[in-house]
Amino acid sequence: MGKKQKECFTKAYDTAADLILKATDEFAEKFPPSASVDHFYQPGPNRDWTAGFWTGEVWLAWEKTGNEKLKKTAEIDVKDFYRRIKERDGVDHHDMGFLYCPSCVAAWKLTGNTMGKEAALMAADNLMGRFQEKGQFFQAWGELGAKDNYRLIIDCLMNMPLLFWATEVTGDQKYAEKAQAHIKTAMQNIIRPDNSTYHTFFFDPETGAPVKGVTHQGYRDGSAWARGQAWGVYGSALAYKFLKNDAYVDIFCRVTDYFLEHLPEDKIPYWDFDFTDGSDEPRDSSSAAIAACGMLEMSKYLPQEKARHYTEKAEELVEALIRECAVTDPAVSNGLLLHGTYAKSSPYNTCPDLGVDECVIWGDYFYMEALTRLLRDWEPYWY
Ligand code: GLY
Repeated sequence: MGKKQKECFTKAYDTAADLILKATDEFAEKFPPSASVDHFYQPGPNRDWTAGFWTGEVWLAWEKTGNEKLKKTAEIDVKDFYRRIKERDGVDHHDMGFLYCPSCVAAWKLTGNTMGKEAALMAADNLMGRFQEKGQFFQAWGELGAKDNYRLIIDCLMNMPLLFWATEVTGDQKYAEKAQAHIKTAMQNIIRPDNSTYHTFFFDPETGAPVKGVTHQGYRDGSAWARGQAWGVYGSALAYKFLKNDAYVDIFCRVTDYFLEHLPEDKIPYWDFDFTDGSDEPRDSSSAAIAACGMLEMSKYLPQEKARHYTEKAEELVEALIRECAVTDPAVSNGLLLHGTYAKSSPYNTCPDLGVDECVIWGDYFYMEALTRLLRDWEPYWY
């Protein structure tokens, strides 16, 4: 990266760490919800599928600054993540990696926190209970085996590293075997011939046969929901990291190139790639942050020239986020990244509007992770 670019990233990284430290006053024993309202998160309980991102941000800021207040905040959170999985409080879904990697795997890796390790292993066991033999995938949501919920979702690629980590820590291959099976099923079904992706894909509960791709949070079944595509970018990079299957390099490049080719001029994705320059639909900045992290992860495994290409693209995305979306003044927001969208209703999906043109907590986390990756030799919390 150039000198100017490095200065820009360094300033943004300093600002983000300061904002996280300031936010610990408000969120010392509470968690931000998934999305802000009028750009401010209200403190609440550890219940959403997104609570781990807050603790992950705190760990990232602690790694940067060494500030004890950050470590203490993260450690309080880890105790609550242990309680949450023990009590099965809001854990009947697949998002165990999102919850337990940035919080508890991070705690174990960074400080040897055994409660974090135990909690993350319980979360991995919980996720294992959602594996469907018929179809070979982890069912994302809802009653296990029910026909109207018999589907995987692209986001779940990000929950697989928790299982590979569990195999590494316990020596038990069962976690990695199921993760490998799920990744294979997902890769066979969610990538379309034009390299866009389905958000979710249904299977027949009787036979396990693939049925159809359907959106949940995208504009329509056949469109490319920007965040789904971004989960595909990072998810395929992580799939390659663990499985070293060359087919996943190809998938990474296809899905990532689609993402990059469908960005508007200012590089902040609209919430669905059906929309581009000239549309007044909202953006989803979090998708750019996720995709940047995925490209930086994948650059570790690619030949030099390709690695340089995707690293430069990731740098361009982060520069755009700093320019267009980064919070610099705590009076404006208690988040880090403006212009995220959790869910936007459309005539073809069943979502209510939720967190539209707001901060979303994973957007903040992945923005901080991207800056960390650009400026430090960072050991990911995901595995
Ligand atoms: N994993 C759900 C979402 O990205 O909104």
